Amino acid sequence: MGISVELQYLETGQVLENALVGPDTCRMEIRSPKITAAAQPGQFVMVSVAHDSTDPLLRRPLSIHLADNGVLTLLYRMVGKGTRLMSQMKKGDEISLLGPLGRGFQIHDAAHHCLVGGGLGVAPLLFLGTEIKRRRPEERLTILLGGRSRNELLALDDFQKIAPVHLATDDGSSGLHGLVTDLLGQEIEGPATIYTCGPTPMMKGVASLARQRTWPCQVSLETMMACGMGACLGCTVQRPGFDETEKKYVHVCKDGPVFEAAEIWR
Ligand SMILES: Cc1cc2nc3c(=O)[nH]c(=O)nc-3n(C[C@H](O)[C@H](O)[C@H](O)COP(=O)(O)OP(=O)(O)OC[C@H]3O[C@@H](n4cnc5c(N)ncnc54)[C@H](O)[C@@H]3O)c2cc1C
Ligand code: FES
Repeated sequence: MGISVELQYLETGQVLENALVGPDTCRMEIRSPKITAAAQPGQFVMVSVAHDSTDPLLRRPLSIHLADNGVLTLLYRMVGKGTRLMSQMKKGDEISLLGPLGRGFQIHDAAHHCLVGGGLGVAPLLFLGTEIKRRRPEERLTILLGGRSRNELLALDDFQKIAPVHLATDDGSSGLHGLVTDLLGQEIEGPATIYTCGPTPMMKGVASLARQRTWPCQVSLETMMACGMGACLGCTVQRPGFDETEKKYVHVCKDGPVFEAAEIWR
């Protein structure tokens, strides 16, 4: 029996680049060799965004967008104080990171891997797609991305470098005029393994279609998080349809953020 050791680090990274790449969305590259070397797709880091003060006090969870050659990349939307402070950081600034944290995506043998991302949900999928291509070059990989409009389809060039990409937009400005779940129904024939991240209604739709077709499906959940390490129970999610005898709740930071869809929704 193998022994698995979880490596986690508190590391002071150095900002290499921090640029606006979409509506209210930035991409930050950080030199962070220890976390990068241990990172698996679907894991996240807790970022301290307080420069010289304690406000905001709590670290913020962000998915690992890429981890390569000592450089960790984050893709983040400016939604509040923490992410706005992050967006003001410059090349050479130091940033404190805790990670890699959580249970990421499991990459098993599959004839066809299909990544389904919506909005900011693409953040963990680029690392996943890159690793599937590297570890299983002979297996088919397809990427489906959805967004409100063309300019909200994030990291498109990066995804197009690793696999065929199909698009869906709410306003029809690029690809299919409709939902990424419609795209999944239309584009993917035959058995596939699905990996999805995005708004909860989208992931539920993806999981439901996968269940009907008996395809394995992994989902990456998002909740508010205070500690990111299983200590505060702030990230508890109820599993609808499950009862006390089965484990009614999961903790997204420790049990996830990635789950088999059937672990969460029936
Ligand atoms: C595992 C995980 C991975 C994540 N990965 C990414 C990522 O790669 N890129 C990215 O942009 N964001 C990601 N998030 C969400 C990100 O953590 C929040 O947007 C961030 O913490 C907001 O911090 P803030 O200080 O800017 O905003 P706050 O001032 O803390 O909040 C601003 C608003 O956003 C809401 N909010 C804050 N956090 C969350 C959350 N987790 N879910 C829903 N609403 C929230 C608040 O209720 C409030 O309305 C992830 C969250 C988790 C749990
Ligand atoms: S965030 Fe503290 S237990 Fe999950």
